[in-house]
Amino acid sequence: MEHNLTFKQQITNIRRGLKIISTFPKRSLLSNALAILIEAPMPFINVWLSARLLNELAGEREQGRLIFFAVLLVSINLATRLVSSAVNRWANYCTNRNFDIMQNVLSRKMLNVDYSDLENPEFQLEYSTILQHLQGMGYGLRNVFNTYTGLIRCVLQIGLSIAFTFSMFTFPVPADSPLAWLSSPLAIAGVFLILACNILLVPYINTKGGKIWVKASDVNNKEQRFSSFYLWSMLGFNERAKDIRVYDQRRMISKTSDAALVDVNIWKPFYKFAALHSLAAVIISSLANGLIYLYVALKAFAGAFGIGNIFQYVSAINQFGEGFNSLMNLIGDAYNNGSFLERCLVFLDTPGRIHQGSIPAEKHREGGHEIEFHNVSFKYPGTDKFAVKNLSLKLNVCQRLAVVGMNGSGKTTMVKLLTRLYDPTEGHITLNGIDIKKYNYEEYLDIFGIVFQDYTLMNFTLGENVAADIDYDENRAVEALEQAGFDKRLETMPYGLKTYLRKWFTEEGVEISGGEAQKIALARALYKDAPFIVLDEPTAALDPIAEHEIYTKFNDMVNHKTAIYISHRLSSCRFCDDIAVFHEGVLVQQGSHEMLITQEKGKYFELWSAQAQYYQ
Ligand SMILES: Nc1ncnc2c1ncn2[C@@H]1O[C@H](COP(=O)(O)OP(=O)(O)OP(=O)(O)O)[C@@H](O)[C@H]1O
Ligand SMILES: [Mg+2]
Repeated sequence: MEHNLTFKQQITNIRRGLKIISTFPKRSLLSNALAILIEAPMPFINVWLSARLLNELAGEREQGRLIFFAVLLVSINLATRLVSSAVNRWANYCTNRNFDIMQNVLSRKMLNVDYSDLENPEFQLEYSTILQHLQGMGYGLRNVFNTYTGLIRCVLQIGLSIAFTFSMFTFPVPADSPLAWLSSPLAIAGVFLILACNILLVPYINTKGGKIWVKASDVNNKEQRFSSFYLWSMLGFNERAKDIRVYDQRRMISKTSDAALVDVNIWKPFYKFAALHSLAAVIISSLANGLIYLYVALKAFAGAFGIGNIFQYVSAINQFGEGFNSLMNLIGDAYNNGSFLERCLVFLDTPGRIHQGSIPAEKHREGGHEIEFHNVSFKYPGTDKFAVKNLSLKLNVCQRLAVVGMNGSGKTTMVKLLTRLYDPTEGHITLNGIDIKKYNYEEYLDIFGIVFQDYTLMNFTLGENVAADIDYDENRAVEALEQAGFDKRLETMPYGLKTYLRKWFTEEGVEISGGEAQKIALARALYKDAPFIVLDEPTAALDPIAEHEIYTKFNDMVNHKTAIYISHRLSSCRFCDDIAVFHEGVLVQQGSHEMLITQEKGKYFELWSAQAQYYQ
């Protein structure tokens, strides 16, 4: 997983990360900056005032000045605490919102990628890994945000500590003191050397130790993904709870999620590596600090400055070390985050491979729409079997085409090709004589009202489901539901179109049956009032009466539309003008029922006879 990025690539990535974050609400950047601006100077104000107090106590002890410094110290602290707690709460709220927005950036990408990417398990895995890193260790975009806030804090802390330490070097030791050499350039250079050791070597060791977590995050990834998958599956309890219970998948779930926890030993070497590095860093920094404190104490002892200044310098040097350490850690973290950020950006850059055309596709075109498959063949990515082979088929305006065939014969694949969820491997499809790739994709899709075999409904209101929108025409929604045979059930819905489906958002939501759901899906396709209607097994879940109603109303329903009707119930295809019979991806027969039934060696006859014997 470790990508070896050049420094330039790292900087480019961070800049891109910052650019993404800069599109987030400004208040999150502002509130965090404000919180830091209020908090960071506080230790310095305290140190400076305390040093003045100490000097006063050790010197003239003038009561007025003592009280003044003490009151100032207390009141500044009180006021800052009050303000900073309010600002901090605001900043925390904004940062949490930011986190939601970051996840949203990723999920929005998922909503917009090519359908074929969604079906690609590697792509899904990449998404879940990026999400996992974002939520877990805060890698990826979250780290970029932390770098931004951290940088402001560090720069402020370092700048102020330098300002507060400066006079330590300039106050001279009296020339007659045996310790006068403390003011010599050599001694000052020595102090700088020790400081450098503290601020450069220590963070270097820490970063090296921290790097191990980049490696660790790849270990056990699969188990971690398993457990997060199960965690998420639990969230979708409505869909999965039944299967989980009936097949007692709980066993499977606990076994796999336990597996993620069982082998704790695998983490040991990582912790050991990190702990040894921390230990070395602590030893070096304690030694270096000790030497610097000694220098300050000796200089005060020699009479260069008062007792209060010792306190000021020691504290400021501490702050400097802390600030520099944080800065180095920040840079180290940003560096370690490089590979995570890279993955995140590559994911966000996933190109839309589906060709986007520009020709407008008029939904309501005079003369209707004519679709034709020209010798189309298609293999799903990563497979070498043709799911559809040499398909040539023409759909005339207002034609009703039934498509039949055994499981896996390529019927649904044909619909996916028609809707450009996939583009053909060979051949092409035309709409009114023009390759469908050349049309504006959104407008092209607008031509179709589709009920997929594996349609889904949202946990929104009935009306919103039918209209696939929040704003909709209620009369048309009711009409579509009536046409789909949902009218009687609609009367029993407590809030009519405003009734929520399922109880996800409200206790008053209504659970619907499989057949009822199918009727709503059909109503959704009808509401769209598209000139082209495609129904993939639209009545599989309907009771015989509802199914019969759909058949009798079918002609009214599709009215002036062109329709593709995929079904395993051959009797239902009789009202279609034309029947296409698929077998192993190939269109093997085409014609009316009356014609096909006479071809006793044909696939249609075989399918028809197999089904008909139960009705005799
Ligand atoms: N996403 C996919 N990736 C790889 N192969 C797929 C994918 N979807 C379908 N297939 C394969 O393509 C072939 C055709 O599938 P398709 O779904 O078109 O069949 P169908 O005729 O609609 O079947 P059914 O009657 O069961 O709905 C099958 O062999 C199937 O295994
Ligand atoms: Mg199918």
